[in-house]
Amino acid sequence: MAQLARQARLEVWPGPGPPPPDALRAGASRAEGLLCLLTDRVDAGLLAACPHLRVVSSCSVGVDHIDLDAARAHSIPVGYTPGVLVDTTAELALALMLAAARRVVEADRFVRDGRWTTWEPDLLLGRDLAGATLGVVGLGAIGRAVARRAQALGMRVLGWSRSDRAVEGVERVALEALLERSDFVTIHVALAEETRGLIDAAALARMRPGAILVNTARGGIVNETALAAALERGALAAAALDVFATEPLEAGSPLLDRARLPNHNLTPHIGSASVATRTRMADLAVENLLAGLEGRPLPHRAGAEP
Ligand code: DGY
Repeated sequence: MAQLARQARLEVWPGPGPPPPDALRAGASRAEGLLCLLTDRVDAGLLAACPHLRVVSSCSVGVDHIDLDAARAHSIPVGYTPGVLVDTTAELALALMLAAARRVVEADRFVRDGRWTTWEPDLLLGRDLAGATLGVVGLGAIGRAVARRAQALGMRVLGWSRSDRAVEGVERVALEALLERSDFVTIHVALAEETRGLIDAAALARMRPGAILVNTARGGIVNETALAAALERGALAAAALDVFATEPLEAGSPLLDRARLPNHNLTPHIGSASVATRTRMADLAVENLLAGLEGRPLPHRAGAEP
């Protein structure tokens, strides 16, 4: 904000939380540039109400909250923050995979609840990553970064993506085969019409009994009701989710049921949440916004040219 304030007149939503749609519309309708977060829905209605808008810059790599077609129709370029959050998000995916495999969250509760009475040979037994097979759904930068880390841990890595890019050390297979052969499945595709509900009840039914599902991409890719049911009947050993169809999770979500889903690991969309990465994301978002205001090409532009 300090950098932007030197070059533009700022109107800042003070929070807490994101602006309600009316407030966003009122503010954006006066603006020439909009710097938004993934919690701000920038749809066709909003863009139509913003006659002065010359650039939208999202402090995120995902742009599923922005109607890119509508932005194109209004000749408004959309900036995003690719590249800088790859390692940080890959690290969270690994952290969740390890936590789920070794039941870290469940073990923490066990200790805090005063249930730890002695060392036991079969207490809280988990799974090894070494020697296991990981399926990476989506072989973009984050999926590839997870694959490299998994290889270093001694995992066999299968990969599926819509492009046919070859990735060293990754056996490319059809999605069905990936689900059927993997002990761990980690999701790294963007949310788009083609990927919404990609991991539905049928996909979950293909997964190996006792497999573990990790999602650090977007919630809408996994059918949460089907996932909760698969976990409850023990078809999957565990899931670890950082992203949800509705964020924050609604109080009634079956995913929150600790008694029925004890080894279900939930984090609040913190994939890119390190100090260094969030700082780099903010810097890119500012660069994109200023470029748009000055009529220059955005350094990082989402979607096709308007
Ligand atoms: C993004 O930038 O899209 C991420 O989901 C935030 O971590």
